[in-house]
Amino acid sequence: MPVVAVFAGGLIVSLPLTFRIAKQATSLLLMKEMTMIGRLNHVAIAVPDLEAGTQVYKSMLGARVSAPQAEPDHGVTVVFVELPNTKIELLEPLGEGSPIAAFLEKSPAGGIHHVCYEVDDIIAARDHLKSEGARVLGDGEPKIGAHGKPVLFLHPKDFCGTLVELEQA
Ligand code: CO
Repeated sequence: MPVVAVFAGGLIVSLPLTFRIAKQATSLLLMKEMTMIGRLNHVAIAVPDLEAGTQVYKSMLGARVSAPQAEPDHGVTVVFVELPNTKIELLEPLGEGSPIAAFLEKSPAGGIHHVCYEVDDIIAARDHLKSEGARVLGDGEPKIGAHGKPVLFLHPKDFCGTLVELEQA
């Protein structure tokens, strides 16, 4: 029987337990207030051969895969693999100085290139991340991404070694 007890909601509760419950409630509240990223919009996989990658997802994994779409502004050709809860994008280098060329030199078989999270307000998200010391790639201004929506990329070294794309939902 604890020495110190308080009367809470008609129950005798030990004081340490009361504090623990209060602390958990506070951190849950903080978590809710801090929520910034939403759905996983897509996982992007760099591939050396888009046709071969398409066949892997279409024939072997039985997924629905879009027709290839050239994105000259982003230096990639992309196909979208539609999954019930998210998308996989297969990226193949397009043109000179493709942003995924160096990645494929290091990983010739291909690999996960970035993950994309949705945010409600990309400018507010950027400003919050910058105030936290995170590095935003490029000139820090959102560009129109493959889905016609504003996107930003964040430095992998600040995000668990993973290139992160933010897309305004
Ligand atoms: Co992307």
